Amino acid sequence: MQLKFPRLTHNRISYIGAIGAIFVGISILLMFITNSILEDTNPYFGILLYVIMPTALIFSLILIPIGMIREWHRWRHSDKPVPVKWPIIDLNRGGHRNAMMVFVFGTIGFVLVSSFGVYQAYHFSESVEFCGTTCHTVMNPQYTAYQESPHAKVPCASCHVGYGAGWYAKSKLSGAYQVYAAIANRFPRPIPTPIKNLRPAQETCEQCHWPEKTYGAQQRQFNHYMYDKENTLWKINMLIKTGGGDPQSEHASGIHWHMNIGVEIEYIPRDEKRQDIPWVRVTDKLTNRVTIYQDTDNPMDPAKIETAKKRKMDCLDCHNRPSHVFRTADYAIDKMISARKIDRRIPEIKRIAVEAMSAEYPDKKTALMDIANYISTHYRNQNDSLYRAMRTSIDKSIVAVQEAYSKNIFPEMKVRWTEYPNNIGHFTNVGCMRCHAGNHESEDGLKITHDCNACHTILAEGTGEDYEATTSPDGLEFRHPEDIDEAWREMGCYECHDGTQP
Ligand code: HEC
Ligand code: HEC
Ligand code: HEC
Ligand code: HEC
Ligand code: HEC
Ligand code: HEC
Repeated sequence: MQLKFPRLTHNRISYIGAIGAIFVGISILLMFITNSILEDTNPYFGILLYVIMPTALIFSLILIPIGMIREWHRWRHSDKPVPVKWPIIDLNRGGHRNAMMVFVFGTIGFVLVSSFGVYQAYHFSESVEFCGTTCHTVMNPQYTAYQESPHAKVPCASCHVGYGAGWYAKSKLSGAYQVYAAIANRFPRPIPTPIKNLRPAQETCEQCHWPEKTYGAQQRQFNHYMYDKENTLWKINMLIKTGGGDPQSEHASGIHWHMNIGVEIEYIPRDEKRQDIPWVRVTDKLTNRVTIYQDTDNPMDPAKIETAKKRKMDCLDCHNRPSHVFRTADYAIDKMISARKIDRRIPEIKRIAVEAMSAEYPDKKTALMDIANYISTHYRNQNDSLYRAMRTSIDKSIVAVQEAYSKNIFPEMKVRWTEYPNNIGHFTNVGCMRCHAGNHESEDGLKITHDCNACHTILAEGTGEDYEATTSPDGLEFRHPEDIDEAWREMGCYECHDGTQP
C-alpha cells in the first residue's frame, strides 16, 4: 500500500523535515523510557531530553511547511497558468485527505505529548539535581553545604524561586544568562552574595515558617575545644530567646520580634555585604512612632542618608546562611572532635588540625595531600614514639580533617568562611553586633541594646571542676575561658575569634 500526499509536500526541505521529525521523535521516546527506568541519570541527560531534543523536533516540524511554501511559490512563478491565489484543499483527493489526517492527529498528539513534556521539563528545571549538579564546579560549594544543612530536603527552588509563574519566568531568564556565563567561563569566583533581586522572604521562607507561629526559646549547647595541649573541652549551654509571635498577643517578644508584623526595621548598609550598618530606623506600626539610631563612633554622612537605598529587614538579614554555611576551621574541627572522628587524646590536635585546615592551598588535590603531610610530619618530628603509638588515631584524624576541609573550603571557587559571613550570632562574624554593639544611639539617647541577657541567658558554662550550672532565669554571667582582662566587654568576640583562633 502506498500513502499518497499532495504534490506540494514532495520537495527536499519537507522530506528532510519529516525524516528528522520521525528520527528525533523516536529518540525522544527511547530517551524518555530510559530516563524513567534508570532512577539516577546524569543531569546533562535531562538537558538533552528536555531542552535540546524538543528544540530539534520543533525545528524539523517547521521545515515541512517551509518546504511546502517554497514549493508553492515556485509553482506559482513557473509558466503554468495559476487559476487560484491560495492552494486548494480537496478532501475528496486521497493525498489531501492523508495530509489532513497526519496534520490533525499529529497536532493533537504533539500538543498532548508536549504538554506532558513541558510539565516534566518544568519539574526538571526546578529540581535539585539540575540546580545543584549541572554546573558542578560552579555550584558545588553551595550544593555541598546544602546537603549538610537542615534544609537538605527542601528544593533549591523553594528558596530561590518560590511559587508562581512570574518568578518562574524571571528565574529562567536570569538562569539562561547563568548557563551562558558558566559555559563561557564568565562567572565571578566566589559567586557574590547577597543575591540582588532575591525574592522577599515573606514569599519563600514564610511559606513554611510563619512568624506568627514562633515563640518561646531554643536551648543550645556550644562545645569548644581549646588550643592547649589537652584540647580542653569548654562547654557553653544557653537559652536563646527566639520569641516571636503576634503583636496583638503577649507573646510578641524576643529575637523574632524583629520580623514581627507590628514593627518595621529599615537600615542603610555601607558595604555590599551589608556588614557595616551605620543607620537604622524603627517604625512601630501600632503607634506610628519612628526612632532613628545612628552609629555614634562612625556616623553616616547626613547628605547621603536621604538618597541612600534603605533595606527593609527580613529573615535573611539574620538567617542569611540557612542552607549554605561554610564553617570556620575552628568550628568544623570542634565538630569532628565532638563526633569522635578526631581523637582528643592526641596532644594539641585541635591546634594542629585547625592550622592544617585553614592554610591556603591552590586546589583540592594539593590540599588533601598537604593536610596529611602537615599533620603526620608534625607528630613524627615532635615525638616519634608518640607518633608510632598513636599512628592509627592520627591517620583517622587526618581523614576527618580532610573531610572537614572538603565540606567547607573550595579553592577552585575561592570559597571559604571569610567570603560568606554568617549573620546569626556574633562569635566569628559581627552578625547581631552590626546594630547591637552598643554604639547605635537615637537623638534622645535611646540605645539598641548590648545587654548580654537581651538575646540569651547562659545556663551552664566551663570545664572540669570549673563547670557551673544554674536554674535561675537570669542565668550566669559570661566567663571567658582565657584571662583576657574582661576585654570581651568592650570588644566583639569576632575581633579575636576569626575562625582560626589563636
Ligand atoms: C532554605 C533556603 C535555601 C535553599 C533550600 C537553597 N538556598 Fe541557595 N541561598 C539561600 C540564601 C538565603 C542565600 C543567600 C542570599 C543572600 O544573602 O542574598 C543563598 C545563596 C545561594 C548562592 C549564592 C552564593 C552564596 O553562597 O551566597 C548560590 C549559588 C545558591 N544559593 C545555590 C543554591 C543551590 C544550588 C541550592 C540547591 C542545591 C540552594 N541554593 C538551595 C537559601 C537557600
Ligand atoms: C519548603 C519548606 C521550607 C522553606 C521554603 C524554608 N524552610 Fe526552613 N526549615 C524547613 C524544614 C523542614 C526545617 C527542618 C526542621 C527540623 O529540622 O526540625 C527547617 C529548618 C529551619 C531552621 C532551623 C535550623 C536549625 O538549625 O534547627 C531555620 C533557622 C530555617 N529553617 C530558616 C529558613 C529560612 C531563613 C528560609 C528562607 C530562606 C527557610 N527556612 C525556608 C522548611 C523550609
Ligand atoms: C533578628 C534576627 C532574626 C530574624 C530577623 C529572624 N530570625 Fe529566626 N532565629 C534567629 C536566631 C538568633 C535564632 C536562634 C537559632 C540560632 O541561634 O541558630 C532563630 C531561630 C529560628 C528558627 C528555629 C527555631 C524556632 O524558633 O523555630 C526558625 C525556624 C527561624 N528562626 C525562622 C525565621 C524566619 C522564617 C524568619 C523571617 C520571618 C526569621 N527567623 C527571622 C534570629 C532571627
Ligand atoms: C539592622 C540592625 C539590627 C540587626 C542586624 C539586629 N538587630 Fe536586634 N534590634 C534592632 C533594633 C533597631 C531593635 C529595637 C530597638 C528599639 O527598641 O527601638 C532591636 C531589638 C532587638 C531585641 C529586643 C531587645 C529588647 O530590648 O527587648 C532583640 C532580642 C534583638 N534585637 C535580637 C537580635 C539578634 C539576636 C540579632 C542577630 C541575629 C539582631 N537583633 C540583629 C536592630 C538590629
Ligand atoms: C543582639 C543579641 C545578642 C546580644 C546583645 C549578645 N548576644 Fe551572644 N549570641 C547571640 C546569638 C543569636 C547567639 C547564637 C549564635 C548561634 O546560634 O550560633 C549568641 C551566642 C553567644 C555565645 C556562644 C557562642 C559560641 O559560638 O560559643 C556566647 C558565649 C555569647 N553569645 C555571649 C555573649 C556575651 C558575653 C554578650 C554580651 C557582651 C552577648 N553574647 C550579647 C545574640 C546576642
Ligand atoms: C581580646 C581577644 C578576645 C576577645 C575579645 C574574645 N576572646 Fe575568646 N579567646 C581569646 C583567646 C586568646 C582564647 C584562648 C585560645 C585558646 O588557647 O584556646 C580564647 C578562647 C575562647 C574560648 C575557648 C575555646 C576556644 O576557641 O579557644 C571561648 C568559648 C571563647 N574564647 C569565647 C569568647 C566569646 C563568646 C567572646 C565574646 C563575648 C570572646 N571569646 C571574646 C581571645 C578573645
